[in-house]
Amino acid sequence: MEFEEVLKARRAVREYRDGEITDGQIRRLFDLASLTPSAYNLQPWEFIVVRDKQKKKLLRKCCNDQEHVEKASAAVIIISNTDPTAYLNDIDADEKKRGRAMMRAQRPIAEKIAWARRDGNLAAMTIMLAAQSIGFSTCPIGAMDEQMVRKEFGIPEKFELVLVLTLGYGKAPAPRPQRKNFEGMVHFEKF
Ligand SMILES: Cc1cc2nc3c(=O)[nH]c(=O)nc-3n(C[C@H](O)[C@H](O)[C@H](O)COP(=O)(O)O)c2cc1C
Repeated sequence: MEFEEVLKARRAVREYRDGEITDGQIRRLFDLASLTPSAYNLQPWEFIVVRDKQKKKLLRKCCNDQEHVEKASAAVIIISNTDPTAYLNDIDADEKKRGRAMMRAQRPIAEKIAWARRDGNLAAMTIMLAAQSIGFSTCPIGAMDEQMVRKEFGIPEKFELVLVLTLGYGKAPAPRPQRKNFEGMVHFEKF
């Protein structure tokens, strides 16, 4: 699929057909997700892939009982580490990167959360587009009981809970909701 087609085809899909998602497909998807840019290339994201029926049912409960969370073949919980030094040993960090990460580690927690969320949100978008190009549909899920997701899926406190995504074989979605036009979005040189 051409990139523009992928962008135009991606929709928030809420109805799914049955079908398995294999380990190979999951690996391909997350190999693509790993190409997401991140500040200083710190790559703070981690992903919990939920395919088990009972676990999907539980996640549905955590997500305000949204049916598509259970009906899609899988769901992905995207989390992002607020500790900027967490993966320095895994990502061949150069000294500059290491220094910046150490400096950021001293910053107030609100700032570290903001950086973790920036990177995590970009990863979410990459996954949605990569999934579309592979042939899967997704739906971003923001409405959830965060504390419940954390508790039920064992997410440590230092991780931000970024987003849940459904992932599966989507049925044709309703027409795309209206988008803002160019004039409504774009400013030149100043606000
Ligand atoms: C941060 C975020 C949270 C969202 N949360 C939900 C959600 O909890 N449930 C849902 O069905 N859709 C959710 N959506 C999907 C939006 O409703 C959808 O993307 C939007 O209406 C535009 O439609 P489109 O993605 O098909 O273009 C969310 C989207 C985003 C970006």
